[in-house]
Amino acid sequence: MKILLTGGAGYIGSHTAVALLDAGHAVAVLDNYSNSSPEAIRRVEQITGKSVNLYEADAADKSVVMDILKKEMPDCIIHFAGLKAVGESVEKPVEYYRNNIDTTLTLLECMKELGLKNFVFSSSATVYGDDHKPPFTEEMTKGACTNPYGWTKWMQEQMLTDAALASEKGSDWKEPLSVVLLRYFNPVGSHESGLIGEDPQGIPNNLMPFISQVAVGRRDHLTVFGDDYDTPDGTCRRDYIHVMDLAEGHVKAAEYAAEHTGTEVFNLGTGNPYSVLDMVKAFGAACGHDVAYEIGPRRAGDIQDSWANADKALKVLGWETKRGIDEICRDAWNWQSHNPNGYK
Ligand code: NAD
Ligand code: WQD
Repeated sequence: MKILLTGGAGYIGSHTAVALLDAGHAVAVLDNYSNSSPEAIRRVEQITGKSVNLYEADAADKSVVMDILKKEMPDCIIHFAGLKAVGESVEKPVEYYRNNIDTTLTLLECMKELGLKNFVFSSSATVYGDDHKPPFTEEMTKGACTNPYGWTKWMQEQMLTDAALASEKGSDWKEPLSVVLLRYFNPVGSHESGLIGEDPQGIPNNLMPFISQVAVGRRDHLTVFGDDYDTPDGTCRRDYIHVMDLAEGHVKAAEYAAEHTGTEVFNLGTGNPYSVLDMVKAFGAACGHDVAYEIGPRRAGDIQDSWANADKALKVLGWETKRGIDEICRDAWNWQSHNPNGYK
């Protein structure tokens, strides 16, 4: 198949490009580089020995997106483009709603006009909110999100579901849509080559890039956000999923979308929770020295526990994770130690 990745130069998009190319699919990427670099795609080509059609464009700009889609006529669009920093979304809600919602609406309008059918969306476990106890299953009701970023995912899921429903009912859509909503848990790690990886701008918001930067000497120590939770070591637990396992989930999702219509939701997680201190310890073992940390106060908005029930993805897509936290830390360290300043 020919697959177009919006936001494909970013962290998850670039790893998915490798997995798709390795699986024999053709890949085009559309990115405005607001949080990435074209260097990531150059390295994707280096890893796979295959070329990618690369477009610098804003996924919310309808006339530009139309031109690209007319040229590519992809069998499937995987929509990664979006702003994703939770804290920043609280300070800049308008920018977050504008970018994240607009890109999805633009893509839907273009797909409708061109008769394109298959769409895979980067959603997030954040849509479960704090209303349920893990493991989270897809049929649980979506919860109340704790920040504008989360609400953009919640709303985009709803928009896509409504569009797929309308397209099936013989409205003015040329084709019934096929929408796959992928709810990622905590994507971490990097491609085994160490050539591509996560390259956050400024101070990392997320745990793993922060630990990596402490390990490589860019930062002094990690602050662990709270050790007074009701968990075995007092720190929060998450479902950390190797980004190449996640990438392979997208290959299965795109292939599934091509064979179906309607909307289907899948959790992409391991089902195994690890605490913040588990991750600090595992990373220390991978990099060969302790990672300095101190205990700080809880971070506002954090939930204590989040992990997936990933049975549906196994049953329906035939997908499950193959890599554990040792591989995650090994590969994250390989990327960080060979690229201490990211792609710069
Ligand atoms: P990322 O920031 O590395 O990648 C997003 C890419 O989209 C970047 O390359 C950025 O330049 C591009 N982009 C943003 N707005 C754009 C626009 N208007 N037009 C064109 N390109 C645009 O983030 P990521 O971690 O790879 O995340 C990819 C997707 O997965 C995002 O939608 C994110 O919300 C979602 N997600 C990420 C995580 C995570 O922890 N990384 C978890 C759940 C869901
Ligand atoms: C993990 C754990 C922190 C940094 C976020 C988004 C979510 C999804 C993934 C996009 C928590 C602790 C962290 C630090 C710490 N993104 N921590 N010190 O919060 O599970 O999820 O990213 O959809 O929507 O909310 O991930 O990596 O920020 O935190 O102690 O410096 O590490 O408190 O327990 P989170 P995270």
